[in-house]
Formats: sequence, structure tokens, C-alpha cells
Amino acid sequence: MKITPPTSPGPPWCLPPETLILGSDEVHVWRATLDRTTSQIESFRHTLTADEQARAERFYFRRDREHFIVARGVLRALLGFYLHKAPECLSFCYSSHGKPALAWDSGGDTVHFNLSHSHGVALCAVTRGREVGIDLDYIRSALAVEQIAERFFSRREIATLRALPLDLRTYAFFLCWTRKEAYIKARGEGLSLPLDQFDVSLIPGEPAALLSTQRDPYEVSRWSLQELTPAPGYVAALAVEGHGWSLACWQWLDLGFPAGWICMERQGW
Ligand SMILES: CC(C)(COP(=O)(O)OP(=O)(O)OC[C@H]1O[C@@H](n2cnc3c(N)ncnc32)[C@H](O)[C@@H]1OP(=O)(O)O)[C@@H](O)C(=O)NCCC(=O)NCCS
Repeated sequence: MKITPPTSPGPPWCLPPETLILGSDEVHVWRATLDRTTSQIESFRHTLTADEQARAERFYFRRDREHFIVARGVLRALLGFYLHKAPECLSFCYSSHGKPALAWDSGGDTVHFNLSHSHGVALCAVTRGREVGIDLDYIRSALAVEQIAERFFSRREIATLRALPLDLRTYAFFLCWTRKEAYIKARGEGLSLPLDQFDVSLIPGEPAALLSTQRDPYEVSRWSLQELTPAPGYVAALAVEGHGWSLACWQWLDLGFPAGWICMERQGW
């Protein structure tokens, strides 16, 4: 088994041009940081609906409340950017398992999105006419990954994880976890889709892929998966309906990431 150490750079994060067009064969992923000043948080809060503000108030910890407000505010701002609408004018609807989508009168017939946030960073994937799911995780090295894998992963994934050298297992665990989450988030069914009934790739250095599903063999050809490297110490995955799309990763502009995180290139494949 060939092992590549966890140093894959992934697609670069670029500063967006002033005008962005989202083609049906494109996927855009936006990265934003969630730790903001009080005045920035207030500005985002004003773009949220009363329901969203009430949800923010229910968070016990201030940091979680603020991160929710900023993530939802950035989501509204960037969707408004594509749809040429004010962020506060967009309305969302929710699937029976809670997946948010744009309401039909806000562009939900064309623009799809999915959001993930972890440890102060948010990623939002946007597509035109394709279902999409995204998941981001901060790598926690103290996690009992093998016990968690035993509980949630498929037999094939557990065997693959166990066959890896010890020093790669935590990283491989998070590759697997984010790919599984991205897939269930793309499908929008939450945990009603049993996590041990489908297999994803997890060997570091190998392409992200949905390898098999027990429920419907057609699923494997329906979805494509992509690994993302949002920032040092984080792992992320994208699940997109169909194939042959190109990916652009954009840095949300109203804040500063450390300069080294940003690259002014665009990459497709
Ligand atoms: C949404 C869910 C699927 C993932 O949540 P998560 O990983 O904790 O959180 P993320 O930051 O990645 O995603 C949250 C965002 O996804 C979106 N979301 C909510 N429900 C969703 C659903 N059913 N499908 C897709 N997206 C959903 C929302 O935009 C949400 O953002 P918000 O909370 O600010 O409104 C959650 O329902 C869940 O329970 N996850 C499973 C946990 C688990 O045991 N995983 C094992 C993996 S091996």
C-alpha cells in the first residue's frame, strides 16, 4: 500500500474578481473566518431574520452564538452577491432533516449551497443546479479515533484505517469523517442515512471518492467527492452531484486571513 504523507496542498484559495459568474459546470467554495469584532458581528446580525436571531440567542456560549451569526451573515452576503439581492431579502426553506436551501422566490430553483463551520472557520459551497454537501473539521489529535471509527464507520473503512501506520490514522480518520459527512449533507437526509452502509476512500494521498453504497449502487456514479485543505490543521470535503465540474476556491474578502493562506491563482480540473 502506497502512503503519501498528509501534505497535499489542495486547490488554492483565491481573491475573487469583482464579477463572478457561476456556470452549471462549476463549484465555488468560499472560506471565511468567524472571529470578528463586535461591530462586524452587529452588522451581520442585522441581515438575519427574526427566526435566525432567535436561534442565535439560544446558544449557551457567546462564542458559538457569534460564530452562528457570522456564518449565517456571510452565507446571506455571498448568496446575495450571486443573486444580486440584498442579504436580508433572501429567504430560506428547510428539508425535513434541516438542510437549508434558498426558497423558490429567492433563487432556490437554480442556486444550491451548503455550509460547514468548525473552530472559527466556515466554508460555503455554491453550485448551479447540482446538489452539494460540504464538511469541515479541525483535526483534534487527542481524539480516540479508532473507538469512534468502530462505532460509525463501515467495516471496509475500519479495516482500511487499521491497516495504516499509527501516525497516519488520525489524519485518515478525519479524511473519512469529512467525506462521509459531506455525502450525507449533499443528500440532505442527516443521520437517517446509516453511516456504516456506505464506504468512502480514506487513505491519505488517494483521491476522495464514494466507493460503494449498500442502498443503491447507482449512487457511486451519481456523486463526486473532493478533498479540500482550508487552512493548516483543518480537513474538509466536498460532495457534488455529477462529474466534470471545475472547482474555484475563494477567500471571503471582508476580513484578513494570514497572508500565507491566500493564493491569487485559479485552478480547474
Ligand atoms: C448537519 C449535520 C449533518 C452535520 O452537522 P455538523 O457536522 O455538526 O455541522 P456543520 O458545521 O458541518 O454543518 C452545519 C450546517 O449544515 C447545514 N445543515 C443543517 N442540517 C443539514 C442537513 N440535514 N443536511 C445538510 N446540511 C445541513 C446548515 O447550514 C448548518 O449550519 P447552521 O448550523 O449554521 O445552520 C448534522 O445533522 C449531524 O448530525 N451530523 C452527524 C454527526 C455524526 O455523528 N457524524 C459522524 C460522521 S462519520
